[in-house]
Amino acid sequence: MDWGLKNRLSRIIKPDGRTVMLAVDHGYFLGPTSGLEDAGKTIKPLLPYADALMPTRGIIRTSIDPSTSTPIVLRVSGGNSILDEDISNEGLTVAMEDAVRLNVMAVAISIYVGSPNQKETLLNLAKLVDEGQRYGIPVLAVTAVGKSMGRDARYLALCCRIAAEIGAHFVKTYYCDGFEKVVSACPVPIVMAGGKKLPELEALELTHNAIKQGASGVDMGRNIFQADNPVAMIQAVKAVVHENAKPKEAFDLYNSLKARKDSGQANDAIMI
Ligand code: 5RP
Repeated sequence: MDWGLKNRLSRIIKPDGRTVMLAVDHGYFLGPTSGLEDAGKTIKPLLPYADALMPTRGIIRTSIDPSTSTPIVLRVSGGNSILDEDISNEGLTVAMEDAVRLNVMAVAISIYVGSPNQKETLLNLAKLVDEGQRYGIPVLAVTAVGKSMGRDARYLALCCRIAAEIGAHFVKTYYCDGFEKVVSACPVPIVMAGGKKLPELEALELTHNAIKQGASGVDMGRNIFQADNPVAMIQAVKAVVHENAKPKEAFDLYNSLKARKDSGQANDAIMI
């Protein structure tokens, strides 16, 4: 990896080898997802706590303050929508030149292994890696899972390894039983996808398990911005990822921050 690409990746995955990415790219195929109806309003208070933000270019342009120092991981694949029977039909939706113009630290593309569009999505990944290498922009492969595919370790290990073999610099995938096998078979960092909204303690347990089994962090959206108190939740997730807090400790932090906010006090983390 050249210096520039390494430098960009080091802004996302911190010196402790970990990252808490805030995923807010849902609209590229889901439209106005609950909690992101006014994306700017949701994202603004969370931005200072995110190690990186994963938006679309439309959200960058309309809803993110250009003075932000939070690294951007730009969603550059799409072309599908929630109306599709089969959501695997994605292509590239942003030119690398525009990604560079937007000063992003990485680009993100979904791959659909085992789907009717497997080959196209994998060749798009290859093309994006070639362009990423040319411009020094790391590529995050997102192992999307179509409705008919099981999220078991065997399948997710296949997806992550294929992504890494094609050249992805880091990979986002789901937690599963046997997750440590998925991580150990992937030669590049893996971040855990948050997935559908869970009760906060469960989401923190999922995060803790993933970190314990070798994940380099999380790329979490709904479990943060759909929480009762998103600012408290991202700080609780960071406690697990960066301070090795246990789920219950992080959940206590969440509740104490939430109580402070509810009583009108500052929402900043207190040391645990
Ligand atoms: C699609 C995605 C989503 O756009 C988003 O990033 C998911 O985040 P979360 O599941 O944590 O809400 O990755 O594959």
